[in-house]
Amino acid sequence: MKLLKLLSVVGARPNFMKIAPLIRAFRKYPQVNHFLVHTGQHYDSNMSDVFFRELDIPCPEINLEVKSGSHAIQTARIMEGLEPILLHEKPDLVIVVGDVNSTMAAAIVAKKLCIPVAHVEAGLRSFDSRMPEEINRKLTDAISDFLFTPSPDADENLLKEGVNKKNIFQVGNCMIDTLFFELKKLEKKKQPIDFSEPLSLEGRGQGEGDPHRYAVLTLHRPSNVDNPKVFKNLLETFGKISKKIPIQFPIHPRTMERMKHFGLSTAKDITLLDPLSYVDFLKLYKNAAFVITDSGGIQEETTVLQIPCITLRENTERPITVTHGTNHLVGINQKKILKTVDTILKNKTRKTTKICHWDGKTAERIAKILVEKLGGSKRGERE
Ligand code: UD1
Repeated sequence: MKLLKLLSVVGARPNFMKIAPLIRAFRKYPQVNHFLVHTGQHYDSNMSDVFFRELDIPCPEINLEVKSGSHAIQTARIMEGLEPILLHEKPDLVIVVGDVNSTMAAAIVAKKLCIPVAHVEAGLRSFDSRMPEEINRKLTDAISDFLFTPSPDADENLLKEGVNKKNIFQVGNCMIDTLFFELKKLEKKKQPIDFSEPLSLEGRGQGEGDPHRYAVLTLHRPSNVDNPKVFKNLLETFGKISKKIPIQFPIHPRTMERMKHFGLSTAKDITLLDPLSYVDFLKLYKNAAFVITDSGGIQEETTVLQIPCITLRENTERPITVTHGTNHLVGINQKKILKTVDTILKNKTRKTTKICHWDGKTAERIAKILVEKLGGSKRGERE
């Protein structure tokens, strides 16, 4: 049996829930020696450590502690820190997940050292190159050897960009593996998935006895929080929504920083919370009437749990959540947002179609493919 050394790189909050099921899946293969590097792109305890503890991710072998900086600085620090590690560890493969700066930086370093790269969550495109994540996605996919995609649209995008069909594997969604896994754990503990009591939320705008008496909000995209006019207009919109239904707002550190910097504030029926752990956030949004967000992953999680999601973006790299799911892509127009809220509050029964391979077994599929392919093919070679 050929021994395989697989090195994964994570850095920011949305990476952690994608790597957790993969590490679990690799444990089933005695020939796999897995090595984890944390770039330290996210470093606050509630943006990083808590996810490692809760999702049972082993302590990273190395933390590069790059922390925050401009895109160029952050990317350069990751590249500089990772190169000597890869030279020393000589892994058979580097695995990157998602679309953050750590993803792209790690892929470039590995590929330039002729180490094959696997990209988990490949092929997603918003077709909006003003989004730093879109640049990260395109560059990572352009040099990856294994492109693990979550949905047919992702395959189509990659094929159009000239990626060899043999390198594309539609395996589903690792983030949904974590969602199902953690939901099961909660059910086993018989922990009621209901945040409405502890948060003592008062019902508004909904029928009496309805458990869905609050909305959840997340916001962190530079396009929404870096421009004071846009941010102010959004906060005003949230204020209007909070008069219909109270809002719980776990606030990202960058959003909090921008809000203070611009001298802005939230309405009184919006409860600001520190960033929540994975499980606490799951408990919170699981019972929400709807979620308002500009996140990528939340569009997918709400689709699977059939919770209406209002996405404050003009485009999405996850169109399947609109065509098959609960996602309303509304942008930042106040009228449009308020109209969508009213529609959701009136009509709570929207059902979603099951999405192929979003079944909790994606990581197992990825592990199987990697072990089979790397066991047989020559190092650094594309199929
Ligand atoms: C990053 C990802 C984004 C992802 C998001 C999830 C990129 C380009 N962006 O955005 O795709 O959706 O993570 O959270 O990779 N900060 C802290 N503590 C932390 C981390 C960040 O206070 O632990 C603050 C700092 O002020 C920092 C700012 O957040 O400057 C931005 O952090 P950064 O990692 O650059 O990007 P995010 O906005 O978190």
